[in-house]
Amino acid sequence: MSVALCRIEDIDDPGAKGFSFVDREDSREIFVVRVGDGVNAYVNSCPHIGTPLEFQPDRFLTQDGSEILCSTHGARFEIDTGRCVAGPCRGQSLRRVLVTVAEGWVRLNDPFL
Ligand code: FES
Repeated sequence: MSVALCRIEDIDDPGAKGFSFVDREDSREIFVVRVGDGVNAYVNSCPHIGTPLEFQPDRFLTQDGSEILCSTHGARFEIDTGRCVAGPCRGQSLRRVLVTVAEGWVRLNDPFL
């Protein structure tokens, strides 16, 4: 199953955008990070204690846009791998979600839906 999430130009470069999927009692949250023409996506749950990473909508990156930031305790993650490089969950990783860009559309290609 593949779902169109947004146009790639709807995400700042570099930047990120969160998405929620609600299925009866269950809700799942992911976020997509854009750098240039590339995108990476992860489940919006910090490996430290499982909270969402952002305090404000779509604010998933450090100020300089070079890393993913967890707003709760400041863990930082590599954009392209999701690996935590600083903070209380150092060495752990965000859970990757499979996305692609096709004809300008960011598409979710993941069976977790
Ligand atoms: S919940 Fe993310 S660093 Fe603690």
